[in-house]
Amino acid sequence: MPEKRIVLKNCGVVDPGDIASYMERGGFEALVKARDAMKPHQIVDEIKSSGLTGRGGAGFSCGLKWELARKTKSKKKYLICNADEGEVGTFKDRYILTNDPFGLIEGMCIAGHAVGADHGYIYLRAEYNHLHDSLRHGIEQARGKGFLKHMDIEVFEGAGAYICGEESALMDSIEGRRGESRYKPPFPPARGLWGHPTIINNVETLMNVPPIIKNGASWFSAMGTQRSKGTKVFSVSGDVNKPGVYELVMGSSLRELVVDLADARDIKAVQVGGAAGRIIPGHMLDTALSHETVLGSGAAVVFNASRDIIDMVHNNVRFLHEESCGKCTPCRDGLEAMVEIYGRLVGGEGAEQDLRILEDLCKTMTLASLCGLGQAAPTPVLDSLEYFRNEYERLIRQAAHLRSYGMRG
Ligand SMILES: Cc1cc2nc3c(=O)[nH]c(=O)nc-3n(C[C@H](O)[C@H](O)[C@H](O)COP(=O)(O)O)c2cc1C
Repeated sequence: MPEKRIVLKNCGVVDPGDIASYMERGGFEALVKARDAMKPHQIVDEIKSSGLTGRGGAGFSCGLKWELARKTKSKKKYLICNADEGEVGTFKDRYILTNDPFGLIEGMCIAGHAVGADHGYIYLRAEYNHLHDSLRHGIEQARGKGFLKHMDIEVFEGAGAYICGEESALMDSIEGRRGESRYKPPFPPARGLWGHPTIINNVETLMNVPPIIKNGASWFSAMGTQRSKGTKVFSVSGDVNKPGVYELVMGSSLRELVVDLADARDIKAVQVGGAAGRIIPGHMLDTALSHETVLGSGAAVVFNASRDIIDMVHNNVRFLHEESCGKCTPCRDGLEAMVEIYGRLVGGEGAEQDLRILEDLCKTMTLASLCGLGQAAPTPVLDSLEYFRNEYERLIRQAAHLRSYGMRG
């Protein structure tokens, strides 16, 4: 696999419990450069021209977000590192938090300085609470070295809900309320946590900041595709020999990611981007991994020929239904209806019209849901209908058969 380790370069190399080990390898030099030799607007411009995009799923321009927060006048501004990592099959942020906490702290310090935030949170997935102490210890060491003078950082334990990874629900959670998606606009950089401008970035996004400041925007933007610059960290699991976390240049193919980890001839499909991610069939492994094509959070779950695609999508919709916050009707009721239909299909009671209803639901949910959960939930349904329609039709034929023998109602 043609790995390129930029975000992961310190993982397994530095001692994650000792700031001196990080500093020996050039750690915090980017912060010193940003703080002493650059104006905040220059940092924002550098990030903007690097083309760095969000690695948490949506792929929005990091620099544009920072610019809006920087320009919004307010006595108080916040920076939140989204370490909720609830996306199915995604474990790259855990790997980074475990192995290179100082890289994240440095990225956050630079971000805080650039936008004028004076308080930072690491919103840590509840299941990762075993990392709480080591992160706090890392923050204390950075504070001891004087790196947190302009912005302190605290670790906030997440609520244990998938929806709380969605940026607006996440802010509800920090504010002490039940996490539900908010209506947008206003967007967080204009009006976020407790009404103040707030930057929310994924762990991996922030990890890219120190190397960009150190090496320059053009070094970074020389890697990748037109709209996807730099590298991407992938979490690979499922039917592979060596599940793990791998970093590739953006635009690499799915084949390059999985070919050394699984027998490509035996791959039925790869789901990329989590429970609401694309399903790429085995004959399309040359698909590029980028925002233009398929990416999301960078989860890649491999399914071999023995796997049942409808069963897998049924699992996806059951998970999303369970985790929907219920605030908007298309997502709440749409997922309820999808779970019912898949139950019928796998229970031997499906009918041709179920596929039409599924397609209609997908359209409505994509167009009318309040947040990414409901908007993206139709993705695996539509992909499976496109690439594995024969499996749906087989179930429907079997159900018709059973009905004709009076074995089903
Ligand atoms: C249901 C849902 C769950 C999400 N979970 C996460 C998550 O666990 N981690 C994350 O970084 N972004 C998650 N996101 C995306 C965030 O809303 C947001 O786009 C991201 O944190 C912004 O950071 P970035 O621009 O650096 O990617 C989720 C979005 C949705 C709709």
